[in-house]
Amino acid sequence: MVTQSTVILGTGSYTPERILTNEELSKMVETSDEWIRTRSGIKERRIAAPGESTSDMAVHAARAALTDAGLLASDIDLLVVATITPDLPLPAAACIIQHKLGMRTNAACFDINAACSGFIYGIDTACAMLTSGRYHKALVIGAEKLSAIVDWKERTTCVLFGDGAGAVVIGCSDQPNIGLIGSRLGAYGESVDLLCIPKGGSDSPATPESIAAGDHFMRMKGKEVFKLAVRAMDEAARDILEQYSLHADQISLVIPHQANLRIIEAISKYLELPMDRFFVNVDRYGNTSAASVPIALDEARKSGRIKPGDITLLVAFGAGLTYGSALIRW
Ligand code: ACO
Repeated sequence: MVTQSTVILGTGSYTPERILTNEELSKMVETSDEWIRTRSGIKERRIAAPGESTSDMAVHAARAALTDAGLLASDIDLLVVATITPDLPLPAAACIIQHKLGMRTNAACFDINAACSGFIYGIDTACAMLTSGRYHKALVIGAEKLSAIVDWKERTTCVLFGDGAGAVVIGCSDQPNIGLIGSRLGAYGESVDLLCIPKGGSDSPATPESIAAGDHFMRMKGKEVFKLAVRAMDEAARDILEQYSLHADQISLVIPHQANLRIIEAISKYLELPMDRFFVNVDRYGNTSAASVPIALDEARKSGRIKPGDITLLVAFGAGLTYGSALIRW
């Protein structure tokens, strides 16, 4: 079979049961429901249960996507996991997830660290590998346990993030003009320090002092990230539309990274597309990094917001600062 295109065969998502509300957070740090809602649009987020790992959440999302696609874990020969919170620094979360899913051992399994853009990097990579003809069915997962790397004493970050996982199964089709139309990836590497975990890597391994200072938690310059995020998402969206000669009005639904409602509203304004063309669930989950776009995609599909023939635009930015956009025709 000549592979003309790569198509999404199924989607799935999982979020932990535990809901952490803004009211509860206001008892933990000096903040308020009003501040969090007006600055970010977030009302609540999900937090993994004690002992529940990134790989556990990924497995739930993956099983849902496989069921949706009518496939078994043994049908998958390529597993790509986008995460900044793997269960262990070594090895890849993908290997742990492969084993938990009972996948075959001759499947390629690896992680991608592109933070909140990771899922778009993941589908771009998987689609390129599928169109090479050397792989046939890919599982791409975005999964995060951000509650483990958030400093719960730091109000400027802890109110923004949550845990969860989303997954898609991608296969090949000989039908032209459907599936992944194309994608656009990039990064502003000069802005690494705007959002990072300063210590604990090979350049500065953890010490008692660095741990006491909380330098193994996520640190962010929120205002600067906000500005660059709007610029990066706007450019990523515009570039891909131009590349494929599409007008924003031809996009039925935009699935943006869910970091902040104000960022999504700014993109809506710049693209001159009304907010009802944007899928929003940041109010319920906060920012789940690499899991954000696939959770939103799954919820959009299953709530009937995506119909055959529709063109969906995925767009995200994340630590790095990375950015990415992708167009999918259903
Ligand atoms: N509760 C109450 N007050 C707070 C809180 C809080 N949780 N956090 C900060 N403040 C205070 C600040 O100290 C500041 O007080 P000051 O004026 O006395 O100095 C005031 O509120 C305003 O703070 P700003 O940072 O200017 O608020 P801003 O309107 O920029 O909103 C926010 C902050 C929500 C962080 C915003 O900048 C943002 O969303 N940035 C982007 C963050 C983001 O998307 N990060 C994810 C990247 S993706 C990834 O890869 C993980």
